[in-house]
Amino acid sequence: MKKIITIDGPSGVGKTTIGQEIALNLNYSFFSSGKLYRYVSKYSYDEKTNNYDEFNLSIDISGNCLINNISYSDDELYNKNINKHSSEIAKDPLVRELVKNTLLTFYNDIPSGLVIEGRDMGSVVFPNAESKIYLDADENIRGKRREDQSGSQETIEEIKQRDHKDMNREESPLVIPENAIIIDNTNKTKEETIEEIIEKLKL
Ligand code: DC
Repeated sequence: MKKIITIDGPSGVGKTTIGQEIALNLNYSFFSSGKLYRYVSKYSYDEKTNNYDEFNLSIDISGNCLINNISYSDDELYNKNINKHSSEIAKDPLVRELVKNTLLTFYNDIPSGLVIEGRDMGSVVFPNAESKIYLDADENIRGKRREDQSGSQETIEEIKQRDHKDMNREESPLVIPENAIIIDNTNKTKEETIEEIIEKLKL
């Protein structure tokens, strides 16, 4: 049976960096579910359509995505406009269903275990995952970390607003999944956080 490790939490807690490193250690695949929300957002914005049932979204086993045969570069996805817009479209139940189904297909296709990060990975998409992590940190620290990431172009205030939206929406809001191990890394380095995860999950 292929194992799944879910990592959920708000922006700027290091879910991607930490998840990628754990996946590398275990020889698992890694995927950032926010990337799919960003794909839907970018396509919907560019093509001026929210006919989500006509969106054909896929991930190949290397983690490359396509939406109606279009692929986007990271620069096109990770920017101020898509940060905001992706959080908006993520409220729509049709979008959430599309992303969930795409992730489940990806998991079925890959030969290895999976480390997957997002906002509802342990609570909604993979509720039966073997290991669930919830990462948290003080919001000013998270904002500072995001501001320091050159690609993100997001201010502390914008991050607070996005987190607020992601935590208070009706559909699959960001919550601490049942049975999740909670780690607050406000005062921890990336290495210390990874060490704690490996120790707590007995990996
Ligand atoms: O993780 P990220 O910053 O790339 O995610 C972009 C947006 O996508 C985020 O603000 C909310 C949405 N998202 C979500 O609703 N559920 C997920 N599992 C992942 C992301």
